[in-house]
Amino acid sequence: MRLKTVLLSGIIIMLFLISCGGGEDAKKPEPAPQQEQPQATNPLDNKGIGPIKQITLPETIDQKMADAGKKIYHEKCTSCHKEYEKYIGPAPLGIFERRSPEWIMNMILNPEVMIQKDPIAKDLIKQFASPMANQHLTEAEARSVLEYFRTLKQ
Ligand code: HEC
Repeated sequence: MRLKTVLLSGIIIMLFLISCGGGEDAKKPEPAPQQEQPQATNPLDNKGIGPIKQITLPETIDQKMADAGKKIYHEKCTSCHKEYEKYIGPAPLGIFERRSPEWIMNMILNPEVMIQKDPIAKDLIKQFASPMANQHLTEAEARSVLEYFRTLKQ
């Protein structure tokens, strides 16, 4: 009789523990899904790394600024870039469709860091034999070159 009681209470306790354990399991929060490194799916959202945080391009092109930019481009960039075709570096034609204006400026002003840390620039350097050179343009000069790029049409 006593043995039966002991066995019975043993079983009851075990059942209780099992169901309790299950309950606790169910209460455990779901492990948080692995946070993916936020990938810039749209390259135009990438502003690059450097002094330029935000620029807004006015709708109309400032032709005077673009002319100044063209001159600078021909002095400091055409050893490696042609306007309309790939050369030692990529052609700037159509660049606004694949890069944000901030990214372009930061690539001109801060190429060493861009090549090391920016995902697009890191990818680019794999496609070209030599790295983009820092030509030590001022921000205003780089902005003029950007304006010149806006005038390039197929
Ligand atoms: C010594 C050669 C060299 C010179 C000089 C040079 N670049 Fe580059 N540039 C490159 C290469 C090569 C790349 C491709 C990316 C890389 O490999 O670093 C590049 C990439 C770029 C890019 C990114 C293009 C894209 O499609 O994403 C821009 C913008 C650019 N250069 C602008 C300029 C400007 C403006 C000048 C002049 C002030 C200049 N570069 C001078 C070699 C050069």
